[in-house]
Amino acid sequence: MRTKSICCIGAGYVGGPTMAMIAARCPDITVTVVDLNAERIAAWNSDRLPIYEPGLDEVVRSTRDRNLFFSTDVDEGIRRAGMIFVSVNTPTKTYGIGAGSAADLKNVELCARRIAAAAQEDKIVVEKSTLPVRTAESLKRVLHANASGRKFEILSNPEFLAEGTAVADLERPDRVLIGGETTASGARAVEQLVDIYARWVPRERILTTNVWSSELSKLVSNALLAQRISSVNALSALCEATGADVDEVAAAAGRDSRIGPKFLKASVGFGGSCFQKDILNLVYLCRHYDLDEVADYWEQVVEINAWQKQRFVRRMIRTMFDNIAGKRIAVLGFAFKKDTDDTRESAAIDVCSALIAEQAELAIYDPKVEPATILNELQRATGLERKDLEDRVHCEPGPYQATAAAHAVAVITEWDEFTALDFERIYRGMHEPAFAFDGRNVLPHAAMREIGFEVHAIGKPAPAERASDSSASRAVAVRDGREQLRAADALRQ
Ligand code: UDX
Ligand code: ADP
Repeated sequence: MRTKSICCIGAGYVGGPTMAMIAARCPDITVTVVDLNAERIAAWNSDRLPIYEPGLDEVVRSTRDRNLFFSTDVDEGIRRAGMIFVSVNTPTKTYGIGAGSAADLKNVELCARRIAAAAQEDKIVVEKSTLPVRTAESLKRVLHANASGRKFEILSNPEFLAEGTAVADLERPDRVLIGGETTASGARAVEQLVDIYARWVPRERILTTNVWSSELSKLVSNALLAQRISSVNALSALCEATGADVDEVAAAAGRDSRIGPKFLKASVGFGGSCFQKDILNLVYLCRHYDLDEVADYWEQVVEINAWQKQRFVRRMIRTMFDNIAGKRIAVLGFAFKKDTDDTRESAAIDVCSALIAEQAELAIYDPKVEPATILNELQRATGLERKDLEDRVHCEPGPYQATAAAHAVAVITEWDEFTALDFERIYRGMHEPAFAFDGRNVLPHAAMREIGFEVHAIGKPAPAERASDSSASRAVAVRDGREQLRAADALRQ
């Protein structure tokens, strides 16, 4: 049986783009995205979509009101669809058992109850949110407890798109993963979902597994990706101490085909709604099964990330004569990565909060993040009254306004436009010494030093060490020479 109508509960960064792509590639399927948030639905139906994602406008424009619909009528959406995707947010729990590490499944359970209450026939329910292993089991229990004769098949179909490249990732995914029950009806449900993706994804890229493998694979993929970044970030500190260049080290190591070049870019720290949450999920799961060593191992990936953000701030403070109180610092970028307006878990939040705690004055510019979002995030993180926060934090409309009269500029997000700014102009507007702290290693360091900036970058030798490069290498040569003499002496004896 072919699916004719799909409903997706949750019109966010995952649900919106994924459903738009399904609608684009399957014109015979009616796709309805529903959400409790009326403002968000209105934005999906307007010319200004609620999320910024390159290429998404075109996909939505070509499908909306043809076979893609956005609505707040959750029950009607459920009733009309044969297949329902659950794509609601599942943040880390902030209360009760598992606070700080387990996923908050409140929204998922609400969806399950709503589906059970509204459905009039059998349904396939697809979990699309990132969820801890065995959530499908809980979904199934809630649905079946309220089934009254109807049958619900549960599938796991984790999302692997990355924000900023969502459209390309959805168009040409490395793989699509579908987990289902190993029963005849489970296999039929899996086939129905495979049939949808197979319209544009080569069949060999569509992997089918049991439900738990599928759920766990999502956590593992994100944990392994985040681990690479924490590994290279940990080594960036060693590079700064020794005079090695982390970009050169990562490029050399990444040339080994077993390691590969991607996801080895040292940074001020990873962010986003997935990495930290999924690792904490994994840690919670390991502790649940008394695997404390495994839990500790993965927890370290998150700890190094937190340390990297603090290390960046400490370096700024130390460099600026251990005093940033009252100094204006231009913060370039607030999103957790370029090409998105998403700020969830962005390194900018921790960096800015720490700078505010030191009583710095911040001038923040991000090409896509709304000032209200920046202020809300910082208010949540610092606990300051809005007025006190606004005394310290100014959201500026452009990079030149942000850097005017600043003592330092700090790059937190690697937006392309930051690499090609008029640095002469910025330098003229700043106090001297004009410090630049590059949290993404995207600025033209040599050219900026020529202009007069004192540039500090992640995993790169500090300016003082650079100046004494020749004396440092002389010292190493002398030490090596002494060791060689000692070795020769030992041989002679
Ligand atoms: C991630 C996964 O990549 C995706 O498959 C999954 O579906 C959701 O989580 P996302 O969080 O959107 O996607 O972005 P990603 O590109 O993975 O970047 C995450 C963070 O790591 C960002 O803050 C990014 O700047 C940082 N990062 C990434 C680095 O610091 N260095 C790198 O080399 C790569
Ligand atoms: P993600 O990155 O996982 O897509 P978002 O926060 O961007 O997360 O989107 C999740 C969406 O799910 C939000 O728009 C939110 O309003 C919606 N949502 C959460 N709970 C429910 C629910 N019970 N019913 C309908 N929509 C919900």
